[in-house]
Order: sequence, then structure tokens, then C-alpha cells
Amino acid sequence: MVAYLRLLPILGLLVIETARVNAVSLENDRPRTAGNWDYIPGAYIIEYEDGHENEASLFSDLHTRGIPATKRMGLSYSLFKGASIQLDAIDLDPHHASTKIASLTSVKNVWPVRYFQHLANGKRTFGDSYIGNLNSLSKHSMKAAAENDIVGYAPHVITQVDKLHAEGFAGGCFGKGCIISYGMDLIGDGFNGTNTPVPGPYPQDCLGHGTHVAGIIAAQENPLGFVGAAYGANLGMYKALNCAGVSSNDVLIAAFNEAYEDGSDIISLSVGIISGWKEDPLSVAVSRIIDAGVPCVIANGNNGPFVFSSATPADGKGVMAVASIENTMTPLLGTEGFTSLDGSSDNLTSFVWVPGTPAFPNITLPLWLVAPNATADGTWTACSPLNDNALADLSDNIVLVELSGCSDPDIANNLLKNNAKYIMFYNSDDNLSNLYSVSTTPDTLGAGMVPLQQVLEWRDLLGNGTQVYATMVEPQSANITAAYFPNDSNGGYVDDFSSWGPTWEADLNPRSSTPGGSILSTYPLSMGGYYVDSGTSMAAPLMASIYALIMEARSIKDPKALMSLVSSTAKQTKYYDSYNGVFYEGLAPVAQQGAGLAQAYDAVHATTSPSVSSISFNDTDHFVNSTVFTVSNGAEQAVTYSIGHVPSLSRETYKTGQLTLGRSTTPNDAAVSLAFSESKVTVPAGGSVRITVEVTPPQGLNASNLPVYGGYITLGGSNGESLVLLGSQPSTSSSIDYPALGVEADAGIPLLRADIIPLGSTPAKTSNVLGVDVAGSLHGYPVRWLNTNINQVAFNGVTQEGTILPEGNYAVLLRALKIFGDEENPDDYFTKQTRSFNIKYTSTAA
Ligand SMILES: *[C@@H]1O[C@H](CO)[C@@H](O)[C@H](O)[C@H]1NC(C)=O
Ligand SMILES: *[C@@H]1O[C@H](CO)[C@@H](O)[C@H](O)[C@H]1NC(C)=O
Ligand SMILES: *[C@@H]1O[C@H](CO)[C@@H](O)[C@H](O)[C@H]1NC(C)=O
Ligand SMILES: *[C@@H]1O[C@H](CO)[C@@H](O)[C@H](O)[C@H]1NC(C)=O
Ligand SMILES: *[C@@H]1O[C@H](CO)[C@@H](O)[C@H](O)[C@H]1NC(C)=O
Ligand SMILES: *[C@@H]1O[C@H](CO)[C@@H](O)[C@H](O)[C@H]1NC(C)=O
Ligand SMILES: *[C@@H]1O[C@H](CO)[C@@H](O)[C@H](O)[C@H]1NC(C)=O
Ligand SMILES: *[C@@H]1O[C@H](CO)[C@@H](O)[C@H](O)[C@H]1NC(C)=O
Ligand SMILES: *[C@@H]1O[C@H](CO)[C@@H](O)[C@H](O)[C@H]1NC(C)=O
Ligand SMILES: *[C@@H]1O[C@H](CO)[C@@H](O)[C@H](O)[C@H]1NC(C)=O
Ligand SMILES: *[C@@H]1O[C@H](CO)[C@@H](O)[C@H](O)[C@H]1NC(C)=O
Repeated sequence: MVAYLRLLPILGLLVIETARVNAVSLENDRPRTAGNWDYIPGAYIIEYEDGHENEASLFSDLHTRGIPATKRMGLSYSLFKGASIQLDAIDLDPHHASTKIASLTSVKNVWPVRYFQHLANGKRTFGDSYIGNLNSLSKHSMKAAAENDIVGYAPHVITQVDKLHAEGFAGGCFGKGCIISYGMDLIGDGFNGTNTPVPGPYPQDCLGHGTHVAGIIAAQENPLGFVGAAYGANLGMYKALNCAGVSSNDVLIAAFNEAYEDGSDIISLSVGIISGWKEDPLSVAVSRIIDAGVPCVIANGNNGPFVFSSATPADGKGVMAVASIENTMTPLLGTEGFTSLDGSSDNLTSFVWVPGTPAFPNITLPLWLVAPNATADGTWTACSPLNDNALADLSDNIVLVELSGCSDPDIANNLLKNNAKYIMFYNSDDNLSNLYSVSTTPDTLGAGMVPLQQVLEWRDLLGNGTQVYATMVEPQSANITAAYFPNDSNGGYVDDFSSWGPTWEADLNPRSSTPGGSILSTYPLSMGGYYVDSGTSMAAPLMASIYALIMEARSIKDPKALMSLVSSTAKQTKYYDSYNGVFYEGLAPVAQQGAGLAQAYDAVHATTSPSVSSISFNDTDHFVNSTVFTVSNGAEQAVTYSIGHVPSLSRETYKTGQLTLGRSTTPNDAAVSLAFSESKVTVPAGGSVRITVEVTPPQGLNASNLPVYGGYITLGGSNGESLVLLGSQPSTSSSIDYPALGVEADAGIPLLRADIIPLGSTPAKTSNVLGVDVAGSLHGYPVRWLNTNINQVAFNGVTQEGTILPEGNYAVLLRALKIFGDEENPDDYFTKQTRSFNIKYTSTAA
């Protein structure tokens, strides 16, 4: 299977009255930059011209040009020879400075340094200092099995990783010695994002994120009963984020190159910022590593569910950009208690509870259920005292009561009338986030809370007269453990937060998906040892592990071949619009799920390989209506393939009549029609066949709303294999609106200029820029590689270049380079001139 994607983006630029910037559509809560572009003032990454790698002369040249600087980082690598620098005077106009830097003969490329952040959401966990244990388990807990994977550990089941573990694959062994066998700390303890990073001695995790992602790959057998998906792999850890989760692109470029030069077989990253441009310097650096033969697997970003919200460097060329699927079994980490049917300690079943105030002491008592026949109002709760059906003295029971209708202390007070001393509350719905530390009365001796899912099991037993005993252990002595509850709402669907592609240049993104929502993994011991987190951050390391398993099993390393195997065997998921709470029968857009959920076992055992992992029909202006791919049959016998097509849902980027990006745009099932040169083809053992595909765009999409569409080309093999290829979407430009100093881009912009032009007889000095006489740039301009940012600029008469403009009449000319445009050609810009304004200075006595 090959996914295809069709995109018709035509750039739009919206110029807004400053006053309106604050009142941008309420629905439009897309992450955006207001007022700055996440650049670190005065910091640049430079790349040397070949043969000019000389740090000393770089700094002396900069000094000579009047822009003295100091070194942030040396970036002296086989695939990237340069440095990052900090200008001594950071109030200089960035464009002016970068133009000056770029003019040095020793400089090939210059980019601003930007902040980066990790891609985990931060999720529910109860208590911070838990250490795990595994005893015999309730059906909600899982047991470590001989083959080193817990039975039914959902993220491994739905990706078939468990089946590869059962075949003995564990991710190979890449090095020798301990699990984390190499790496470095690139930033030390003092790095805050803006200052100069100073390497530290050892990549100690102070954030938790690195330990969590590392555990997803390589966790060893532990009391909580899970293992990493490639638990046999050796890891190199490169510390690039500080304790607050902040990094910068020069640090990350260095980290990637260090990992590459240390001989890593796969590089996984769970860091990024919204972009959609493969020209971002970090993306460029990563793509070079991929071209050199090392696959890079990167979290696609947590900016969903907006179209065009992928992060750099996931949007880089050749990157395995990973979308996140919600876990089908939600893990719950908590304090371990036990039940038994006979009150003995011989056959204990483990469960998870959240300690209340006071928590339980060490006791074993029978459970007594507050059932409708014992309450005045026929409910499972006790918002009024119990009726006569209840035991008069509950002091030797643990009372099980639903927490609803009134407060936890109210319920405890009512139960006190029956002398209840120990109370276990449970919530009325299956939302695990609603568990909390309950409060009771001064007479209560023990209290806690368990999930409804757990209690339903006990209610069944108690309901037919089976006695159930709970053995509680005081929290300070208890272990923590994990229980797993099925997520019957959005488990198995792409997560709401997962960033959508494609890139602004119509490249397919994300590439494929793995579970990243509600993932249990390791955490620093000082932070509790285990944690449940969500994000594309969690999806990427699982994909990296699948790569490791395929590498081991098939002895291949080529990034393209790996991507193609994973993409062509992935399983598509249906669409869930979480914003509107609607489930669709149609497949989730290719721009959301990529090829779909990775199927590790199928990728290892597939014998059919398509020559491409995706096809893009490009945008409106660069429409490719026909393309060719080959299908190779690696099996030992001839295979007959039926070639077909399954569309995924399309989605418009904008709501009708609204040029801001919306969450709630509804999907559309308008489908392309594809015509294949063959609909059925027999390929001999070891042979291959070329297939031509022609595409006709779908009808019924409003091109003004920037629709994105795609689908899958299916190859149903007579050997039982079925594969899919991927595809894409269209979009169109918006008109230009009101003039002013607030700028909102409603689509990605490769280069945005804001030039100040004198009007009438205003006596400003000008220079000709792209055919227009301009007096200077607005502060912070020009800027490159924008996503749908908003920028608001206060203009005080001083240009970005530092010129104080004479009094007079001016306007700002905004020029946005079209996607794929030539920046030297004035015709390749969308332009908009603001209304005129007058500069007049009030004088103050010096
Ligand atoms: C905690 O776990 C350990 C290791 O599995 C076990 O030996 C110990 O009995 C457990 N403690 C409690 C209180 O359950
Ligand atoms: C980072 O530290 C430097 C030097 O200590 C300081 O000047 C700068 O303001 C800090 N930046 C942030 C974002 O805290
Ligand atoms: C242990 O208890 C479980 C139910 O909690 C029961 O199914 C199982 O048969 C018991 N095992 C023994 C050996 O008593
Ligand atoms: C409670 O039980 C645990 C383990 O079973 C034990 O270590 C602890 O000392 C006990 N606490 C008390 C107060 O007896
Ligand atoms: C679950 O409960 C949390 C906390 O009360 C709430 O924020 C969240 O929206 C709920 N989730 C669902 C699916 O109802
Ligand atoms: C009681 O109910 C449980 C759960 O529904 C069931 O497994 C068990 O067989 C029942 N026992 C009796 C004695 O009916
Ligand atoms: C009330 O219901 C519970 C659970 O359904 C049952 O165990 C109990 O015997 C009932 N009590 C009376 C008095 O009917
Ligand atoms: C399913 O996952 C979502 C997170 O996407 C969570 O809010 C919800 O509570 C989960 N539902 C259950 C039943 O675990
Ligand atoms: C789309 O067309 C442009 C211009 O020809 C080309 O540079 C770009 O690579 C194409 N994009 C894709 C995804 O094929
Ligand atoms: C594709 O384009 C070619 C040349 O422009 C044209 O002859 C052909 O009819 C087109 N095919 C489809 C399916 O639109
Ligand atoms: C298409 O979208 C544009 C812009 O949102 C809107 O003005 C126009 O009315 C729409 N056309 C149709 C047929 O809905």
C-alpha cells in the first residue's frame, strides 16, 4: 500500500488592524507566536563554505565587519561544519546582521537560533514516590511473561511488537556494556535557552522526558511488568533540553551530529516547534544524516488537530515523522492493594487505589457494598443515611461507595451513623482522571478511591453473595503498580493533540503512527520511577524501536527501505473528530495518520515492496496528475496483486467565510478518482512490475478553504499480503484584508518582508528592494519559514536597520513570498500595503 496526498496550497496573507489582532476568532486557538518568532536575539547558526572551516578567522572577520560576536557552540561535524554565534550587540536588526554575516566569504548559510521544546503533554499519575511491584494480578493488571513482554501490553499488541518479541527479536544489540552505553550532556546545568550552552560531564535527566522515552525503547523487566519495545537495544543519550524542557536548534544540530558520529543506527527525537518547512536548519541537518544512511524517527508535534501544524524537524526530508494514537488500554499508576475471596494471604489479587485522608492502615477486612437496596434514594451512593437493610455496625468492613451526588465528607458522615471506619470510594464514570485523594471525617480510620472499572468486578462478586476481602497496605509501605483499563471511547484513534501535515510544500507528513497517548514508562527514580505521559514524544520512540526490530530481523539499515516497509504494512484507522465528539466510518485523513498504525510483524515478514512509501500529487499550481511506482515480489512464488484505492476523508483547512484556521472544520468524503495501468497483475518470484497511476481531483471541495485530501493505494496479494501507499490534498489562497501593523499569516510563508515606504515628499533615505524604494524594515523583519503565526509590531520610528526615520508620511509594504517562489523575483510575492501613517516626534529637553 502506498498513501498519496494531494495539496493545493496557495498562500494567503492577512493584514489586520492592530486592534483586531487581540480579537482573532475565539475558535482559533492554534498555537502561534505573537510579537516574536521564538528567535534568540542576536544568536545565529552559521555554516562554513567548503574549505573555509576556520573559527578564528570567522570571529575576526565578524569583528572587522563591525558585528563582533562570541562563540555559542562549535559545530564541527562531518555533515555540518559551522558554529553558532552570539553577537555582542543584540539590538541590531536581525536581517541586517544576517545579511552581513552571509556576506562573509567563509559563510555558506546563516540561520537564526530558535527555542525548542519537548513534545509530551504531561499526564495523570497518582503520587510521586511510587516504586513498583508485581504480585498476582486482577484482570486489570498484567503479568510479565517468559517471552519478556507482558501479556496483552496494549501498545505492543496493536503494533504487533509482542509477536516479534515472541519470535525472539528484541531490537538487536548495537554496542556492548550497559543499556545506556554512550552519549553526552551538550548543555550542562546552567543552560536556559538563550545563554551559551556549556557541556556537562554526564547526561543526567532532570526533566523526566528523556527517561520516559528511553523506557519506551529499552525498559528492562520491572515490577510493573512492561518492557521496552526494543529492550535488547543499547542507547546513547544526548542531553539537549534543560530541566524546564527548553532547547535551541544549534544544540539539537550538535546532538544529532554527535549521535551520528558516535555510530548510532537509529536516531529518535521527541522535540520540535511548529513549522511545516523542511528548510528549517535543524531539518536540513537531520536530512543530511538520513541521506548518509541513518534513519531519524521524530515526533510530529502536539499542535493538532489543525492542518499544517507539523513541527520541525519532523517535517524534514526523509524523516520518519510519527503521529500519535491513543492507547487502547489506559494505564493507571497507583498504590497497590489486594483482594482475596477467603481473607487469607495465599491467593491475593492486586488492584490500584488512590490514598485519601486518612489513608488506609495495614488491615484485611471484607468489602461491604452500598447497594441501591440499602439507600434511601435507591442509588449506589450515600448522600443521606443508609436504610435498615444496611448492617448496623460497619466498623469491621471496608465500605464500598460511589462518589456522586454530594461530597466525599458528606458521604463519610452519613456512613458514620453505621459506624463505618474504612471507606473505599469509586467514581460514577470511567474517567480515570476523576480519581483523587478523598477527604472524610475525623472519625474515619482509612479512606481511598478506586476506578469504577475495578469496582464493577467486585460488584458482580458481591451481588451474588461472594465474600471479597481487601488487604490494604499503608501507602508508605505499599508498592505502586499499574492497572490497565480499556479505553472504549477514543482508544486506537489518532490523538487530538497529534499534529497534522502536510508540509507547506505538499510533502507527506506525518509518515506513520504508533501509540503515544497514555503511555506508561520509566521515570527518574527521584521522580517516582514510573509515569504515564502522552504526546507524539511517546509515539516516536516506539516507532524507533520498531525500526530496531526490523533492522535486526531483516538486516537492513537503509532509511528509505525501512520507511517503505513500515508505511506499506501500516493499518489505517478511522477518523474521530474529538473536538466535536464525532466518530466517522471513513478513514482518518492521510494528513493526520500518515500511512497509519505501524504493524511491526507485518513489516518484518512482508515480501512485497513498493518502490515508494508515498506519492504526492503536489499543490494546485504544481499538480502531478500521473506517476509511476513499482511493486517488487520478494516471495519464492509468483503473486497476483489486485490494485485498488481507498480514499481517506478530506478536510478543509479553513471554515467557510473564515480565513483563520479552525479546529472544527468537518471532514468531507469527496474522493479522488485514480486510474491504474493495471488492476490485477501477476509478479513472478523475485520480479517487479511498474504501475502507472493517474489522478483526477475530487469534486465538491471548496478550493478557497484549502482542502487537504488523500488516500491509499492498495495492493491485495494472492499471498495474503495487502499493502497500501499514501497520498494528499488541495488548498487555495485567501484574499488580502485590512492594512495595519498586525500581521497574521493564514498559511505558511517561506519569506515575509515588511518594508517601510515613504509617501509623498517624505525626505527619507531609501534603497531599492525588489523594485520598490524602501526606507527600512519593520522591527524583526524580514522573517523566514513561518507557520500561521501572528505578529504584532510596535513601530516607534526606528527601523530594524537602526535608522531613525524623518517625520513624514509612510506605509508598510508587506510582501510574502509564494510557496516555491523565487525570492529575487518581485512577481513571486503576494503584496499588501497598509494604510498610510504619519510619523511625528515629540521633543523632550535633553
Ligand atoms: C513490594 O514488592 C516487592 C517486590 O515485588 C515484594 O517483595 C513486596 O512484598 C511488596 N510489598 C508489598 C507491601 O506488597
Ligand atoms: C539566561 O541566562 C542569561 C545569563 O545568565 C540571562 O542573561 C538571560 O536573561 C537568561 N534568559 C532566560 C530566558 O532566562
Ligand atoms: C485465586 O483467586 C482467583 C480469583 O480471585 C481465582 O480465580 C483462583 O482460582 C484462585 N486460585 C487459587 C489457587 O485459589
Ligand atoms: C504494614 O505492612 C508492611 C508490609 O507488609 C510492613 O512493612 C509495615 O511495617 C507495616 N506497618 C505497620 C505499621 O505495621
Ligand atoms: C475526565 O475528567 C477530567 C477531570 O475532571 C476532565 O478534564 C476530562 O474532560 C474528562 N474526560 C472526559 C473524556 O470526560
Ligand atoms: C458470581 O458472579 C461472578 C461474576 O459475575 C461469577 O463469576 C460467579 O460464578 C458467580 N458466583 C456464583 C456463586 O453465582
Ligand atoms: C442488597 O443488595 C446486595 C447487592 O446487590 C446484596 O448482596 C444484598 O444481599 C441485598 N440486601 C438485602 C437486604 O436485600
Ligand atoms: C481515553 O483516552 C482519553 C485521552 O485521549 C482520556 O481522556 C479518556 O479518559 C480515556 N478513557 C478511558 C475510559 O480510559
Ligand atoms: C511540488 O512542486 C515543486 C515545484 O515544482 C517542487 O519543488 C516540489 O518538490 C514538489 N513537491 C512535492 C511534494 O512533490
Ligand atoms: C494529465 O495531464 C495530461 C497532460 O497535461 C493530460 O493529457 C491527461 O489527460 C491528464 N490526465 C488526467 C487523468 O487528468
Ligand atoms: C467557498 O469558501 C469561500 C471562502 O470561505 C466562501 O466565500 C464561499 O462562499 C464558499 N463557496 C461555497 C460554494 O460554499
